[in-house]
Amino acid sequence: MCGIVGYIGDKNASPILVEGLKKLEYRGYDSAGVAVYDDNKINIRKKKGRLAILDEEVQKNPVKGSMGIGHTRWATHGAPSDINSHPHCNGDCSIAIVHNGIIENYMELKEELIEKGYRFLSETDTEVIAHLIDYLYDTDILSAVQAAVKKLKGSFALGVMSTKDPGKIIAIRKDSPLVVGLGERENFIASDIPAILNHTRRVYLLDDNEIAILTQDNVTVLDKYGEEVGKQVFKVDWDAADAEKGGYDYFMHKEIHEQPKALRDTMTSRISRENDDIVLDQIKLGKEELEEINKVYIVACGTAYHAGLVGKFAIEKYARIPVETEIASEFRYRNPIIDEKTLLIVLSQSGETADTLAAMRQVKEHGGRVMAITNVIGSTISREADDVMYTWAGPEIAVASTKAYTTQLVCVYMIALHLGLLKETITKDYADKIREALLRAPEDIEYVLKQEEKIKEFAYKNFKVEDVFFLGRGLDNYVAMEGSLKMKEISYIHSEAYPAGELKHGTIALVVDGTIIIALCTQEELFEKMMSNIKEVKARGAYILAFAQEKNKAIEKEADEVFYIKDTEDDIASIATVVYLQILAYYLSVARGCDVDKPRNLAKSVTVE
Ligand code: M6R
Repeated sequence: MCGIVGYIGDKNASPILVEGLKKLEYRGYDSAGVAVYDDNKINIRKKKGRLAILDEEVQKNPVKGSMGIGHTRWATHGAPSDINSHPHCNGDCSIAIVHNGIIENYMELKEELIEKGYRFLSETDTEVIAHLIDYLYDTDILSAVQAAVKKLKGSFALGVMSTKDPGKIIAIRKDSPLVVGLGERENFIASDIPAILNHTRRVYLLDDNEIAILTQDNVTVLDKYGEEVGKQVFKVDWDAADAEKGGYDYFMHKEIHEQPKALRDTMTSRISRENDDIVLDQIKLGKEELEEINKVYIVACGTAYHAGLVGKFAIEKYARIPVETEIASEFRYRNPIIDEKTLLIVLSQSGETADTLAAMRQVKEHGGRVMAITNVIGSTISREADDVMYTWAGPEIAVASTKAYTTQLVCVYMIALHLGLLKETITKDYADKIREALLRAPEDIEYVLKQEEKIKEFAYKNFKVEDVFFLGRGLDNYVAMEGSLKMKEISYIHSEAYPAGELKHGTIALVVDGTIIIALCTQEELFEKMMSNIKEVKARGAYILAFAQEKNKAIEKEADEVFYIKDTEDDIASIATVVYLQILAYYLSVARGCDVDKPRNLAKSVTVE
């Protein structure tokens, strides 16, 4: 969380910084600020609230200069306020820094610095770093930063500049993402590539503990021992336009509509109707290694965790290997049983989620093998995993995950089929049947997208609702969880997802006249059971909005409103069904006047635990 950006070159820095921050606003939007060096002085503008407020401030009170750093904040230490906004400075503002991450020992360091006479203005952990660099400053800013980071515990990506040693920006990362953009007589730093994509496509992806020294003409990268690192230039091959709204009001709306294409991109070159093989490019796990594996964990957070639940279902069903799917922040602290026979599959859109990354490092430390399914090329998770499968969904900017989720589903199915075929626990005919259904999934989504107006109508009729229940059985239960998360996250409507059979063990007490129940009934095998559960809640006055396969018209007898997906294999039904729920959450959010892409208290990538 938090986005940082930096520029050094011969242009006016502040518009470049603000433009970069606009592309990073998805990482945090509690406050924003810039610091620009000019004539041996650092000038700072920072404001609580959305970036637009900072933009206005910079228009009113411009800062000139061709070197600067900027920040958009997701508050951790200290409430969102002008004073807690970044950049932070030392006492005479000869050193300015921007920071993404959390300094765990900041209280201890703060006390030491206060004893030495340092005065603090903010409640942030970041301000400690600015004073610490000042305290350790001897001859140059690089050595001071190197000395300071040795004292820091926690995670950080830092951009630092100083009037005492002008003409350079120092950037360093540990457990928080940071890239360096390489331009012509100008260089950049950023938390994520879109922030600098209008200026360069050539980047260095910094590894942990690497420190970059940027001047206008040069970038040097050192490792933690101060040795120069020969970094490979990473060439970005996607377009800046991919990270723009492209005529839609919100990124989420655009990303919902991109799903058919995203799914096709995920599958092309991996599965096809013509070729029998399932080609999982960078997955090197072969038959022999697979035979060694006796335990599979799938670990992720949020929406990615919901995709992981589907992964458990698919791998257990096709490959007959027991799988445990867990939330990363729980897994990492419960001392799970891990050894060299363990396979961990992590799912992460961003590839930077702190808890997922920590879980993965833990498994690697204990000798386990890690397979990552991620969307962001070059992300930390993709670089540290043994096997990587990219979802190829393109940049996902809206905080609410949509196309990343459906492409993750496709990936876990492809992996499960691959493992099943390797282990010979499924026949080729069976695999072909599921593969066919997967290949039809983009069309199934297109069909759902055509029903958008009707879902919108439902949303506008019901947007004042305060509680909604989602019910499902089997895979539908996982779709229910995802639909409920989406609704809570962007429309702030309280919702709960329940396995339909579990409702009468307590929660049904909450069902009263008019309670909206979203009943997911796409599983042919469990259809009759769902019908009974629907009858139970109907008898208590619930209003039923149901989702089913077209062949199950019987649902109309019980439900008040029905939306259909095209007939498909039960296993694949979730992929189209969830799109209805994404559209529903989207229109509820719009109707309630919420900021769809930037829901309150959230940020797109959670790089702190
Ligand atoms: O980048 P990741 O996939 O690791 O992110 C995991 C979650 O933070 C993410 O899926 C979150 O739950 C979404 N905002 C949900 O829409």
